[in-house]
Amino acid sequence: MRDGKTDAAVRTERLTRVYRVGRRRGQPPQERVALQEVDLKIRPGELFGLLGPNGAGKTTLIKILTTLLLPTSGRAWVAGYDVVTQPEAIRRRINMVAGGESCGYGLLTVRENLWMFSQFYGIENRTARQRIETLLERFGLRERGGSKLSDLSTGLRQKVNIIRGFLTDPQILFLDEPTLGLDVNAARQIRAFIREWVLERPGRTILLTTHDMHEAEALCDRVAIINRGRILACDTPENLKRGLQRDALFSLQVTAFPGSATLLQAIPGVRQVRGRHEDGRLELDLVLAEEGVIGPVISALTAQGAHILWLRKREPTLEDVFVHLVGRGLSEGTEEAG
Ligand SMILES: Nc1ncnc2c1ncn2[C@@H]1O[C@H](COP(=O)(O)OP(=O)(O)OP(=O)(O)O)[C@@H](O)[C@H]1O
Ligand SMILES: [Mg+2]
Repeated sequence: MRDGKTDAAVRTERLTRVYRVGRRRGQPPQERVALQEVDLKIRPGELFGLLGPNGAGKTTLIKILTTLLLPTSGRAWVAGYDVVTQPEAIRRRINMVAGGESCGYGLLTVRENLWMFSQFYGIENRTARQRIETLLERFGLRERGGSKLSDLSTGLRQKVNIIRGFLTDPQILFLDEPTLGLDVNAARQIRAFIREWVLERPGRTILLTTHDMHEAEALCDRVAIINRGRILACDTPENLKRGLQRDALFSLQVTAFPGSATLLQAIPGVRQVRGRHEDGRLELDLVLAEEGVIGPVISALTAQGAHILWLRKREPTLEDVFVHLVGRGLSEGTEEAG
């Protein structure tokens, strides 16, 4: 029997997970809050993204939803079944792939590994073989089907992992950082496949995690931004960005100069300054209260001896949304919560 909440593919209510860490003799255990009262509702058919920096709690949430980890408090349902009391019903309907994990037996070939996994899920032999060939073809791996898994590069092995996720045709698929460590082309290929898969199968749901805002923007119908175990915002990428459209956003590149870009923060109307160095140049992303503020910014930079190489207005990104919510960039990680 499904335990209520049947209309959602995934639902959580005040879901909380606390890890006990650093247990040493004679010392009280320390607690680390990895998830804090998370309320989430993902509809069937959605391609839903969980976007957050390292340590935000993404993998912890995926592990609870895939019944690999118990919640400390709160509740969660997947396909209408309770993760604590009905884990078997959930496992029959889902699959999970974690980027960067090594999976399968190195001595078996790619085909043998995939076939073995299909048998764990009780997929009929002919269907399994057909699906394996279709997926190998789709990922450009047909020629490598007979190679031992251990002979493949990390990127190709990750593709095999992804194939393993889709092979069982799950009702709900959990992808934890699916493109982690892949080159641009391989990542693009996998994103295209993910998108196609949900489009072709109405009602199938994907929950993926990423710390890559481009991935979240390009792929997801809705995105929840998570930081330090809390969901800070949840909406379509467009709606999340719309909230920032009153600001003036600029990107510019300057030659290296002796001072620091943080001096720009003192200029009235400068809301955010993010900088990265590249080949002796400094690229700056600025969020300004209004366009006119760019004048004093340019004056301040030239006064420091910087030459402006280019300057352009830009549209808000999910990175801007994240900085707006959290006060720092996605790539800067989470300080340990708890
Ligand atoms: N087994 C564990 N024992 C103790 N603390 C843990 C454990 N697993 C995770 N944590 C802590 O819980 C928090 C959330 O970790 P989690 O792995 O869920 O984050 P994440 O968003 O997946 O990060 P990443 O992007 O690095 O994969 C972190 O503070 C982490 O140190
Ligand atoms: Mg993780």
